[in-house]
Amino acid sequence: MSQRVYIGKNAIINLKEILRKHNPKRIFLVSGKYSYEKSGAKAVLDIILKNYNVVIFSDFEANPEISSVKKGLDIFRKNNCDFVIAVGGGSAMDTAKLINIFAANNEKPIEYLKKKKNIENKGNVFVAVPTTSGSGSEATKFAVVNIGKTKRSLESNFIIPDYAIVDPQFTKSLPRYQIASTGIDALSQAIESYWCIYSTNESKKYAAEAIKLIIENLSKTIHNTSEQAREKMARAAYLAGKAINISRTTANHAISYPITSYFNIAHGHAVGLTIPQMIIYNSKVTEKDLLDKRGIAYAKDKIKKIINLIGAKNVEEASKKITNLMREIGLKTRLSELGIGTKDKINIIIKNGFNPDRVKNNPRILTKNALREILEEIR
Ligand SMILES: [Fe+2]
Repeated sequence: MSQRVYIGKNAIINLKEILRKHNPKRIFLVSGKYSYEKSGAKAVLDIILKNYNVVIFSDFEANPEISSVKKGLDIFRKNNCDFVIAVGGGSAMDTAKLINIFAANNEKPIEYLKKKKNIENKGNVFVAVPTTSGSGSEATKFAVVNIGKTKRSLESNFIIPDYAIVDPQFTKSLPRYQIASTGIDALSQAIESYWCIYSTNESKKYAAEAIKLIIENLSKTIHNTSEQAREKMARAAYLAGKAINISRTTANHAISYPITSYFNIAHGHAVGLTIPQMIIYNSKVTEKDLLDKRGIAYAKDKIKKIINLIGAKNVEEASKKITNLMREIGLKTRLSELGIGTKDKINIIIKNGFNPDRVKNNPRILTKNALREILEEIR
């Protein structure tokens, strides 16, 4: 089944029809502990779900741990749930995706996470309802989870939500820092997807639209309550998700993982930190350090297009524009401001920031020395 998506104000009403069609016996609802009520989703869903049996699972953390996923899996199995709704940001959606897929596949979760076993079965019908405009998880075949300080990503077409309901009414009461960091996650994902060595014409189309929408609308969603801007950000995050679903992310995501797991910086904020420097770094790609098999002219042209989409005249200006945007929406852009500018902390980032699945997707080879220079620039 390919994904059905509903985007726009009050898109959530489509859930009624989806439920009528599938007629679940017991729904497993994964939602953030506090965000479920705060986002306004609870009030709306209480009405839609009032005639259904629902098991709610909220016992997981931001950047979920495998132990929380296993807890949810036990509850899912004990209750014989046959339908999943995930309401929340990337963490809620990823937790729900993992529980649903592990419930349908009989080996231990770790076997799939270590890629020793392949996912063979699709899970139950899955509805994703994002309450942030960020991760794009509602559109992707990925689910990430922490095992200790290491991030593992599960990938399977069976993971793509059957339905995505992107309703901007749920992002209205999001705290500023979360709007900012999730919005920058979406922007980074769109930029990374565009320059990724696995980009396609289709993924570039999604990413290009997302970059433009985010550049034009992210700061408006912070500084005034523009409903239109929020709708556009919701769409942009979804499109960025569609883009990385095809291409995957690149070096910035790899570098961000230790910044989040060791130093507790929100995912999107951590990813965004290195984007301004990585644009410059990737723009200097040469034949010698090129990873994109389509050739140097193609790779360089993609960077030029990104600069254009950002609305800048050259790479320096594009880089500056991203930094300025981050500062304007209240995100610190220097490692020292975040308390992670010391030599040993930078060493931790370098040592753990080379997730091979991500770094090798970057158009230009990233060496440890090059990463050190990038981190020194933003120190
Ligand atoms: Fe991300």
